[in-house]
Amino acid sequence: MTRAHDIVVGLDVGTTKVSAIVGEMVGDAVGVIGVGTSRSSGLRKGVVINIEETVRSIRQAVEEAERMAGVQVRSVFTGISGGHIRGFNSHGIVAVSDDEITQEDVSRVIDAARAVAIPLDREVLHILPQEYVIDDQDGIREPTGMHGVRLEAKVHIVTAAASSARNVIRCANHAGLEVDAIVLQQLASAEATLTQDEKDLGVCLIDIGGGTADIALFSDGAIVHTSVLPLGGNHVTNDIALGMRTPQQEAEQLKRRHGCALVENVDPQDLIEVPSVGGREPRPLSRQILCEIIEARVEEIFQLVKTEIRQTGYEDLLASGVVLTGGTSMLDSIADVAEEVLGLPIRCGAPSGVTGMVDEVNSPEFATGVGLVRYGSRNSGRRTPRMGESGILSRASHKVRHWLGGIF
Ligand SMILES: Nc1ncnc2c1ncn2[C@@H]1O[C@H](COP(=O)(O)OP(=O)(O)OP(=O)(O)O)[C@@H](O)[C@H]1O
Ligand SMILES: [Mg+2]
Repeated sequence: MTRAHDIVVGLDVGTTKVSAIVGEMVGDAVGVIGVGTSRSSGLRKGVVINIEETVRSIRQAVEEAERMAGVQVRSVFTGISGGHIRGFNSHGIVAVSDDEITQEDVSRVIDAARAVAIPLDREVLHILPQEYVIDDQDGIREPTGMHGVRLEAKVHIVTAAASSARNVIRCANHAGLEVDAIVLQQLASAEATLTQDEKDLGVCLIDIGGGTADIALFSDGAIVHTSVLPLGGNHVTNDIALGMRTPQQEAEQLKRRHGCALVENVDPQDLIEVPSVGGREPRPLSRQILCEIIEARVEEIFQLVKTEIRQTGYEDLLASGVVLTGGTSMLDSIADVAEEVLGLPIRCGAPSGVTGMVDEVNSPEFATGVGLVRYGSRNSGRRTPRMGESGILSRASHKVRHWLGGIF
């Protein structure tokens, strides 16, 4: 029988689906032993808008994963997304108390870096160390034990609207689960899809789901930018429903079955049958019309991503290009549109780095869920918050075991 403390569970509460992935830690490796998914209808653009419906979806997904794994899930690492997420870079400097840098000096310098005014209605989700500078030596990742008199930390701070973060915790709690940590979704997806080489050379991760496009930029192995665009596959489906006058469900099917993000890759002779609304007869229409609608929206999403990347100033430092993941990355020819708009090499990434039932999670839709399991397995030894005790989780009504996590 598997012991509870060997288990780490990722709960991805997405706009279109909730997935629960049960991982078992065997030494340093994580094996997937259970997967459960359910339809999600309590979120809009990545944000919980209906607690009851979200709780129902969570219960369903977790019960399915429990049955498959043969364990009872008590706590989860859950993701968070939405247009309210903000990421920014900060730094702090401290004098080293003794000649040798201790863990305490590192904690102090991280505290100094987080000493920025955060509005009362926002909460810090992550403080992610980018690099340390000791005296004048930069590029240091592990300063503990080194000699120096002045220690500087450069960090990336991610904040969220307190109410949105609390609602995610509340939903998990109401479903009978404790929350080990809330993790920014693209951090989890990056954990599951990016290689260390890509992060070192510079890479942009884009997880396009149903309601949001989650962006994370890495340079020199560290995260330098995070943001969320409230746009995703649901917008493509809505456009199809409106443009082709067909019900939402049929529009979704048309997108998945016949969709293509680049019209020039579609044969002008191709015809598709489009169901009508109100019980009228289905109509034959050119597949190119469907794909024009899709292309316009997909292009818009990548134009917005492009503007976002430009604003960061890291545009020329992404030697590894872009990694696309999330359910919408399965859209035919989406990589071609991304390449055309962004002018960068594109790779579509499915989650990796786990063993066990890999076939069950071998889809970009599971990038966040698998990433949460990997993140959880790396952070499961930490039972107390390392930095800052005042986070939202420590005030949450149910026990929360971890809070902040670095990605090094
Ligand atoms: N084969 C496919 N072709 C095109 N689109 C697809 C395909 N499969 C799934 N999708 C789209 O992927 C989206 C769902 O992706 P995903 O499961 O990653 O989203 P989510 O995690 O629920 O939402 P979010 O992360 O935005 O909150 C839906 O819009 C769906 O239409
Ligand atoms: Mg998602």
